[in-house]
Amino acid sequence: MTIERTFSILKPDATRRNLTGAINAVLEKSGLRIIAQKRLHLSRAQAETFYAVHKERAFFNDLCDFMTSGPVVLQVLEGENAITAYRDVMGATNPENAEAGTIRKEFAESIEANSVHGSDSQENAATEMAYFFSGIELVG
Ligand code: RTP
Ligand code: MG
Repeated sequence: MTIERTFSILKPDATRRNLTGAINAVLEKSGLRIIAQKRLHLSRAQAETFYAVHKERAFFNDLCDFMTSGPVVLQVLEGENAITAYRDVMGATNPENAEAGTIRKEFAESIEANSVHGSDSQENAATEMAYFFSGIELVG
């Protein structure tokens, strides 16, 4: 059993539709524990830094516009194999391809406005949570 931590964002399409509680209910029911959470309106610089890995992609500018279009909820989640477990409960990037019962199938509006972000590796999880949270804010 490997207890991991992963970094999550509830994106602006989710906060705009008042879905913070509904999404948290799905991820908590899957066994993940929210050990840190805060609501923030990302600056352009924060969005660009966070998604820097995608800066050469055609969708980068639109993605940064979207991620700064309203508040987000930043979270650290803990649980067994949390990185993979959260990616599984999130569902595919494009909600049209997401499986029934996943957050994106149930709530996402489009491939861009897809309600949630989850780290895709241990290395990225560590970098992403350190960018937004200090150690004393993680209460496991
Ligand atoms: P995330 O990083 O947000 O957890 O999403 P992901 O791994 O499933 O997808 P990724 O390929 O990392 O893309 C990051 C985010 O960029 C937006 N996107 N738009 N218009 C498009 O074709 C497109 N493709 C991706 C989505 O918001 C996606 O989650
Ligand atoms: Mg990604």
